[in-house]
Amino acid sequence: MKTLSFGLLVSLVIAGSTGGRAQVQNEKWPTRAVKHPVPSVQDTESAAEKDARMKWFREARFGMFIHWGLYAIPAGKWNGQDVPGIGEWIMNRASIPVADYKALDTKFNPTQFDAHAVVALAKAAGMKYIVITTKHHDGFAMYDSKVDPFNIVNATPYHKDPIRALAEEAQKQGIKFGFYYSQYQDWTAPGGAAYKTGDHKPPTYHWDPAQNGDFATYLHTKAIPQLKELLTNYGTSPAIIWFDTPYESGYRSTDNPDLDKAHGMTPEWAGEIVQLLNSRKDLIWNNRLGGGYPGDTETPEQYIPAQGYPGRDWESCMTINDTWGYKSSDHNFKSTETLLRNLIDIASKGGNYLLNIGPDAMGNVPSEEVQHLEAIGKWMDVNGESVYATKATLFGPEAGSVSKTEMGKDGKPKFVPEWKWRSTTKGDKVYVHLFEWPNGTLHLDKVPRSVTGAYLLADPSQKALKVSQKGQTVEVSLPAKALDPIATVVVLKTR
Ligand code: GLC
Repeated sequence: MKTLSFGLLVSLVIAGSTGGRAQVQNEKWPTRAVKHPVPSVQDTESAAEKDARMKWFREARFGMFIHWGLYAIPAGKWNGQDVPGIGEWIMNRASIPVADYKALDTKFNPTQFDAHAVVALAKAAGMKYIVITTKHHDGFAMYDSKVDPFNIVNATPYHKDPIRALAEEAQKQGIKFGFYYSQYQDWTAPGGAAYKTGDHKPPTYHWDPAQNGDFATYLHTKAIPQLKELLTNYGTSPAIIWFDTPYESGYRSTDNPDLDKAHGMTPEWAGEIVQLLNSRKDLIWNNRLGGGYPGDTETPEQYIPAQGYPGRDWESCMTINDTWGYKSSDHNFKSTETLLRNLIDIASKGGNYLLNIGPDAMGNVPSEEVQHLEAIGKWMDVNGESVYATKATLFGPEAGSVSKTEMGKDGKPKFVPEWKWRSTTKGDKVYVHLFEWPNGTLHLDKVPRSVTGAYLLADPSQKALKVSQKGQTVEVSLPAKALDPIATVVVLKTR
């Protein structure tokens, strides 16, 4: 069988896509083993309690990320010039003065935003949860905040709270709803942190004196009070808090707490936020709070780890084009084939796929993003059983292998993905997702179970396929043609 190759599924080096930091394959947000000043739920719960708390997340496998804010107005251009990089970083990358950026709020009136349609789109795609930016690095709150008037209800002609509209729709349509919150970076609040881009100078990497101030003051007068609002004012939401960028640009947590103090969320500051999180019993939160708290999930961004994170929950977040926040010039959309095989690949490694949409300044979802999500949903309608609530593959080598000759950008032997098939597991069923259609027979080695039957998941009659097994080698006779050009699923019944 010919080998399919995708450049998108395993990251190489993604330079400049996250505010100028090169992001290398398998980069993790290190959570230094430090004593937690405030015990988190992960520190205190039993394994059974953790399983119960994470159950819906592990079954969901597929969620929608939404990056939406004032940055959708410039949409990647400033003073008539294209600004490189991801759209939501435009204030930092173009060194936009605070006053000029904040003045965008009088122009923000997304009257075409339709919360029902956005939640319905997520469901049509087969997504089981949504995570939306409630306050990104630019400091603008996309919800009705009494803490800071720089928000969509108070400072714009729109005067409505899209987070409340989405929370109500999510509740009605039976989908979980989570909040992204940038707890460390805030480019418009005095004292808020900033990752370095361009020629911005240490130690603050600010570009406007209006940004200067004391981080602890920002944390105690804005970030923590806003997190309190978000955790108490939206009913059963949020199910997830998605923190982001807890350290300085390129700065990584070390064993030097003094360095941490100067450069990122300290264990004490993070502990004050954990105090808040502990107030929501079933809350799930990620590994990007900082201060040495691992949270619940690893968060590989724009890449899929070679073998997942065995024993750890994880979620690969990815854009459909190249930007999280809307950019009018970014039409570099991935194919439905790539996106759907990403989802299957991630599920086969026991992870979740958080796939992003970036609504424009009027609140419309770009049509290309709608089309791709609807196409994925059509496949999920027929084959979702092989993704939802599944466990990782019983095999492994199908994902690819480590090169004996080539080194990755991280200096380690390069993982070279293989794109012929994947597999997931659920109870006595083993699902084999065929990306390439074998010529007549599916041949599997090292099958650790006895196979009692097989059928094609997309075959409504579930017509039995001929199976032969000798030891751990299994052969399944297949019809001449695949039922789906992107992935046809063979179901093995096992015992
Ligand atoms: C990076 C970017 C941020 C984006 C996030 C999504 O941290 O800085 O803009 O929201 O990735 O994972």
